[in-house]
Amino acid sequence: MRKKISVIGAGNVGATAAQALAAAGVGDVVLVDIVEGLAAGKALDLYEATSIGGFDVRLIGSCNMADTAGSDVVIITSGLARKPGMSRDDLLKKNTEIVAQVTRAAVAASPNTMLIVVSNPLDAMTYVAGKVSGLAKNRVMGMAGVLDVARYRSFLGEALGVSVTDVQAMLLGGHGDDMVPLVRYTSVSGIPVTELLSESELAVIVERTRKGGIEIVNLLKTGSAYYAPGAAAAQMAQAILQDKKRVLACCAWCEAEYGVGGGFVGVPVVLGAGGVEKVIELKLTSKEKAMFDESVAHVRQLFTQVDGLL
Ligand code: LAC
Repeated sequence: MRKKISVIGAGNVGATAAQALAAAGVGDVVLVDIVEGLAAGKALDLYEATSIGGFDVRLIGSCNMADTAGSDVVIITSGLARKPGMSRDDLLKKNTEIVAQVTRAAVAASPNTMLIVVSNPLDAMTYVAGKVSGLAKNRVMGMAGVLDVARYRSFLGEALGVSVTDVQAMLLGGHGDDMVPLVRYTSVSGIPVTELLSESELAVIVERTRKGGIEIVNLLKTGSAYYAPGAAAAQMAQAILQDKKRVLACCAWCEAEYGVGGGFVGVPVVLGAGGVEKVIELKLTSKEKAMFDESVAHVRQLFTQVDGLL
């Protein structure tokens, strides 16, 4: 039997994730949106494309969460997206309500699902889902690191004139301007990137990565990124459903790990059939640890705000 993935929210990110999942043949996709006809129309359009691409999966769209019953993975993209001048945190209040409501309904239909949260502010919305879902913490995670690492790798590949697939990198912290791209853990086919680019060249790329989301918001003017976020969410679902044991940066629950003391934050994890099977703890320099701690302190403030809203 094919795996079942539900994507909640048939906006740009949701539809792009559905397209990537179908193209990778990961499983059947149910796209859900409250707007009448939106999910059904996009899912039908995507399904009609499967005969061209040769993907043997079904895609359906619905307004009804009951159609997601028995999902193996639920991807939550619901919520408002950023407009120019808005930070991810400006979305906090509205999206807390939306994500809490969607999470409750999705888990009621699929009590054994894995949840991948994509809504912003990402770390806080993953915390919302973790809190209201009642699921074990390894079954709840947020998509941010895969996107941020993808941006970082693509900028590095461009700067070096090399294949992006040969650029490997890791990144820690919250999905915000204080995320921590780890230059020391960045390599090009095993060659430390510090051998190939100067400190100042790397600093420019790190800064562009941190601001990668707003760069796109400012270009689009009416919304935020969706091709790379959709592809990133699909890659995480694929890692789980095909038990790939991928090592990816994800927003995951950390207790003792990195001294977080309970909270969802971006860390390297092993992603497989058991969801977040392991958080990989890297040895950080005091400078990296200080940057990470600052990022965690920021998301922790959002967790406190969420606690006051729920
Ligand atoms: C971004 C938004 C989706 O980083 O957070 O593009």
